[in-house]
Amino acid sequence: MDDGLAIHARFTALPGSEQIATPFAIHALRQFLWTHAPRRILEVGAGIGSLSWVLADYLTYLCGYAEAVSVEDDPWCRTEWERNLAPWRRRPLLFDKVPPYEFYDLVVLDGPQMPADGWACLAPGASVFVEGNRREQRAALRLSMRQQGRRYIETPSRPPDRSKGVWLGRCEPAWWERLLFASNRIEQWGRDLPARWRGDPIGKRRHA
Ligand SMILES: C[S@@+](CC[C@H](N)C(=O)[O-])C[C@H]1O[C@@H](n2cnc3c(N)ncnc32)[C@H](O)[C@@H]1O
Repeated sequence: MDDGLAIHARFTALPGSEQIATPFAIHALRQFLWTHAPRRILEVGAGIGSLSWVLADYLTYLCGYAEAVSVEDDPWCRTEWERNLAPWRRRPLLFDKVPPYEFYDLVVLDGPQMPADGWACLAPGASVFVEGNRREQRAALRLSMRQQGRRYIETPSRPPDRSKGVWLGRCEPAWWERLLFASNRIEQWGRDLPARWRGDPIGKRRHA
């Protein structure tokens, strides 16, 4: 988790840091990248760049080839992003909208810029990493996958304090992935039970 805390601290000190990813999400994305080694990555909602920083680190140190596209339409964020990512020689290409007719094996979702028909960009077996809950966008994603006749599963992953975490999704899962995701969902549900019983908020960002 130290990597997540360090990157989060770096970005917290920068202008416009109110909406950056949580330390948990930063850490989780880093773990995901280095265990799954995706080759083509799309980041939606790059903001000022905390998750793009994790992608740049991955592109730079990976033994092998990978490429990433980051999408951000806010001009101020784009300027800050360029400045914040300047230390990296290899970093995602920054676009103001999702490029059409491209396919990705990982989509990192942390912004509203994915168009309704954009989910066709998921390659067979692709993964989706969602910062926070993004309920409506996840519902739109599930609907799009159903309309495409494709199987899609997802599961939450939250920090031990039950606060906002991440969701992971997988297209065309293998049988063992379906089992893994189902058991993870049951486990998360069980861990949430006491909080639900007390009426505490679940999956919301908590302030210290
Ligand atoms: C949750 S933020 C994305 C944060 C991003 N992962 C980061 O680390 O900076 C979602 C959207 O909010 C907008 N946004 C983020 N920070 C902003 C700021 N300081 N001012 C204006 N818009 C901002 C951007 O358009 C972004 O796509």
